Amino acid sequence: MATTPNIRPLTPSDWQRYKSIRLRSLENSPDAFGSTFERELTLTDEEWQARVNPALREGLALPLIVEFDGNAVGLACGVIHRADVSVAHVYQMWISPEMRGKGIAKALLAQIKTWAVNMNCKCITLGVTTNNHAAVSLYKSFGFVATGDVEELRAGSALRSQTMVFELTDSYQH
Ligand SMILES: CC(C)(COP(=O)(O)OP(=O)(O)OC[C@H]1O[C@@H](n2cnc3c(N)ncnc32)[C@H](O)[C@@H]1OP(=O)(O)O)[C@@H](O)C(=O)NCCC(=O)NCCS
Repeated sequence: MATTPNIRPLTPSDWQRYKSIRLRSLENSPDAFGSTFERELTLTDEEWQARVNPALREGLALPLIVEFDGNAVGLACGVIHRADVSVAHVYQMWISPEMRGKGIAKALLAQIKTWAVNMNCKCITLGVTTNNHAAVSLYKSFGFVATGDVEELRAGSALRSQTMVFELTDSYQH
């Protein structure tokens, strides 16, 4: 029996495990994400497979899963868009309710940060729903700062999303 959660990159053969935890996260935390459970239920097998196939993204994605005692208990994905390879994005951050408060999300951010530094990014950015106090606290405690205006979380939603940025150039100096 594992005593500590294990974080590892997802591989193409994990796509069904990834699909299951991603759908669980959207169902559990509908206000935390721009996408929705209903929308992602319509994805094809090929689309789920592509999300965890770094080869298809030329290494510009780091999809991570957290496992504990054989169960998937957390998820986060680092992504660099080709339009601006100096910026790494964090998407899909979710920890299953029974595993929260143990430092797992912070450990996921640390792995994405190491990857982003190795990819020569100058910053990491993400969007967080303004009333999501746990997530806002997480990102602030890691060193992210709010930047820019708030936007609709998704079209027609009353929820607002705030962009936050973590400057990697600053972290080199410490
Ligand atoms: C937000 C979330 C990812 C945090 O995951 P977690 O593994 O519990 O977070 P950690 O244990 O790594 O916490 C790290 C820091 O975040 C802050 N934090 C986490 N949960 C918090 C809470 N409920 N209240 C206040 N601060 C919190 C704290 O500063 C904490 O540091 P500390 O333990 O030294 O005080 C988790 O609550 C979650 O999955 N929520 C639903 C989905 C979601 O909101 N995703 C974010 C999308 S942007």
